[in-house]
Amino acid sequence: MGRLSNQKVNYFVSGGPAAYQCVEIIATLQAEGAEVDVQMAPGAEQWIPRAFIKQLLLGAASLVSTQPMLMVGALTVVQIDHELPEVDIAWVSAIASNIESAGVQQVIWLAGTAAASRFPVVERTGEWVVSDQSYSGLPRVDIDSVVAGLEKLSQPPLLAGKRVMVTAGPTLEDIDPVRFIGNRSSGKMGFAVAAAAWRAGAEVELIAGPVALPAPFGVNTTRVRSARDMLAAVESMVDQTDIYISVAAVADYRPDMQVDQKIKKAGAGLDLHLVPNPDLLRIVAAAANPPFCVGFAAETQQIERYAQGKLVDKGLQMIAANQVGRDNGGFESDNNSLHLFWPGADQRLPSTSKRELAYQLIEVIARRYSMGSTG
Ligand code: PMT
Repeated sequence: MGRLSNQKVNYFVSGGPAAYQCVEIIATLQAEGAEVDVQMAPGAEQWIPRAFIKQLLLGAASLVSTQPMLMVGALTVVQIDHELPEVDIAWVSAIASNIESAGVQQVIWLAGTAAASRFPVVERTGEWVVSDQSYSGLPRVDIDSVVAGLEKLSQPPLLAGKRVMVTAGPTLEDIDPVRFIGNRSSGKMGFAVAAAAWRAGAEVELIAGPVALPAPFGVNTTRVRSARDMLAAVESMVDQTDIYISVAAVADYRPDMQVDQKIKKAGAGLDLHLVPNPDLLRIVAAAANPPFCVGFAAETQQIERYAQGKLVDKGLQMIAANQVGRDNGGFESDNNSLHLFWPGADQRLPSTSKRELAYQLIEVIARRYSMGSTG
């Protein structure tokens, strides 16, 4: 299923050289499952032939018109060129006033800063995606941010106004400049949870150990290496946190000393002495005024027993247990399943993509959070 399945998108494109990107954006929205309806400003046809847009829409019940008409109930994208031609200013103004008078909030404005500042309604509705990249000197928006923004606008804002902190990935504990110990984790589950919380309207801080994933759009991402680095980042943000979701596979131990020079290989074995790392989740949950704490538990056996033990032992409001050590699910895979526990109840989330699973988890967290931790 595409990220925009069953969504209708009303796409307005104004004239100017930046119009070139609308073709790529529209094709991406269609590939993600959206039904796209395009309306072009008078100046846009100089850059993008109307026949070409019609072809792109493949004869779907789409309108290619120079009269901007707002389709209420659809998601709306308005692409404003940085060099908006005079002929299109009235056209964009008409859309802006239609949006304002209809009270529509589900709008993505694609614009350069200068163009956007000419239309104050841009700051009062929806999301604003700035074309801060460039392609051969032309402004260029990050298309994934357009898709992410539309996904966000299409979902209920379950966590609007809430501040969510997520830890993800492994922590690596250095032995010397070339060697470390650590746990397995690609970061996929934690990044998906952070993105899902953002789509649910939360302000999200993601603290990630070393992983190869790009920062999710809209999420403030801090990169760390060791458990102690992660703890410092967590402690610096926890006072501004309503919900803490600890997905990270934090290394339980670290070498008692880290040396500056590479340890040379000798014939005999090497003795490493390990000392326990701080337990970040336990520390946060035991604080005087803790956030709503959600732990994760990766288990190879007796999932229920071990997960419930951690729920009680660490003083959490919820724990999400997952089976690891099998071929599919858990570490590194794109799919996973979770078994959620909270005091007195549990709920299974069957195997699906980590993206979808993260959304389902956020729905349960939002519901439990709104009921109060003991509700
Ligand atoms: O990153 P992926 O490849 O997508 O894989 C995802 C995952 C399998 C790593 C993830 O879904 C998961 O299960 N994370 C928890 C890993 C784990 O084994 O946790 P734990 O049982 O060691 O710890 C329990 C809880 O305490 C966790 O929330 C953990 O973040 C936290 N903890 C643990 C140790 C420690 N020193 N500090 C902590 O905060």
